[in-house]
Amino acid sequence: MANIVIAGTQWGDEGKGKIVDLLAENADVIVRFQGGNNAGHTMVIKDRKFICHLIPSGILQGKLCMIGNGLVVDPEVLLQEMDTLSKAGINVGPKILKISDKAHLIMPYHKKIDEARENKKGDDKIGTTGRGIGPTYEDKASRRGIRFVELLDNDLFEEMLTNAVEEKNFYLQQFFNQKKLDLNKITTQYRRYAEQLRPYVTDVSVELDQAVKNGKQILFEGAQGAHLDIDHGTYPFVTSSNTISGNACCGAGIGPTRITGVLGIAKAYTTRVGRGPFPTELFDAVGEIIQKTGAEFGATTGRKRRCGWLDTVVLRNAVRLNGLSGLVITKLDVLSGLDTLNICNAYEHEGARVTDFPSNRRILAACRPVYETLPGWKEDISLAKNRRDLPKNALKYLDRIEELTETHIDIISVGPERNQTIVINNPFI
Ligand code: GDP
Ligand code: IMO
Ligand code: MG
Repeated sequence: MANIVIAGTQWGDEGKGKIVDLLAENADVIVRFQGGNNAGHTMVIKDRKFICHLIPSGILQGKLCMIGNGLVVDPEVLLQEMDTLSKAGINVGPKILKISDKAHLIMPYHKKIDEARENKKGDDKIGTTGRGIGPTYEDKASRRGIRFVELLDNDLFEEMLTNAVEEKNFYLQQFFNQKKLDLNKITTQYRRYAEQLRPYVTDVSVELDQAVKNGKQILFEGAQGAHLDIDHGTYPFVTSSNTISGNACCGAGIGPTRITGVLGIAKAYTTRVGRGPFPTELFDAVGEIIQKTGAEFGATTGRKRRCGWLDTVVLRNAVRLNGLSGLVITKLDVLSGLDTLNICNAYEHEGARVTDFPSNRRILAACRPVYETLPGWKEDISLAKNRRDLPKNALKYLDRIEELTETHIDIISVGPERNQTIVINNPFI
């Protein structure tokens, strides 16, 4: 029996959705444990493309899917996503989708504050997804958030919402010069969501415990990536939750002894969307080729993703923070055709070699990547089914990643489609 966490190792968009969908075939329960609809997880099955922002990517495999207490949920987005999936013939009924009663709700004022704050900051902005993620986690930490359990209790909900709207309106009007929000409108809107979502709301921790006792295999689907983690990422250019594997326990309500492995998802190069330091970022023609070939546009906001070489200082940081038991390398196909490939194995700062990811953002910004150059390959690898189908130089590239990260590569992805994958070790089989 395996219970595996899937975690992003870079700055998000590593291909977690594709790998979760693939591995979900042999898992029983898929649970998300943090983040919200800032995430955009893409799955491609034959010619059909699905993007999940909140619902776990196991839904296409018809597996039991859970939204853990660690998430911040925009009920409007969730209902839209359920509707889209349902129209595509996918079961999203309350027997297959469960929502934690302790998950926090994204409210209209959270989205307004996120947007107003970013606009006010101008050039200093974080480049958030504008989905209200930060302000919702703030309210959770300051103990005035509204959870599903309160949403479903009319009296509690009314009391909490009245207080919140009074305070947020003051903030929005006085500090941001924004129009005030209408309490009655929000009440009516959220009462409707409550009735629509009531059948789905449950104690996810209890359900997971039951699943473990019944010998079921659980897949914990991380969102974002280690370097967007609120504690360990490139603060303040991070998201507002812990994205690393340890948070699977808090965010799903399960003890650490239940988890048997952690797979880190890494793109064969690096991307970042939004602002913040990115040592191996490319500003030349190669960066453009990667951006175009990799179709590097954000799955949530459609923004162009910044692209750069693979950074193993970043990957080693993710290996340590997550306790990775294995790596998954995605989008290897995107590198086909490049004459040479650079791998960053350290940084150089004021003449000194830096091998641990710096916490100080001014030092990080002043770090220059130290590269080693490997030969590229010309062959199309998008149909490779086994490691031995890959060109010699692609294998060299993968071997070097394993050496530098001291971590075994369990899966290699060579295209967006579910089947364009080389599985060396499936933890659920
Ligand atoms: P996530 O947020 O980690 O789930 O990743 P996203 O879905 O935001 O971004 C990954 C993008 O790369 C999506 O468009 C995927 O369809 C695509 N993708 C995933 N794996 C591969 C791969 O191996 N090769 C190529 N070419 N595309 C891939
Ligand atoms: P997935 O799960 C890439 C980035 C935003 C911004 C920062 C803070 O698809 O990998 P937020 O809205 O969370 O307050 O924004 O984090 N960000 C992501 N970047 N992939 C994601 O999710 C992201 N979720 C948030 O671009 O820089
Ligand atoms: Mg994404």
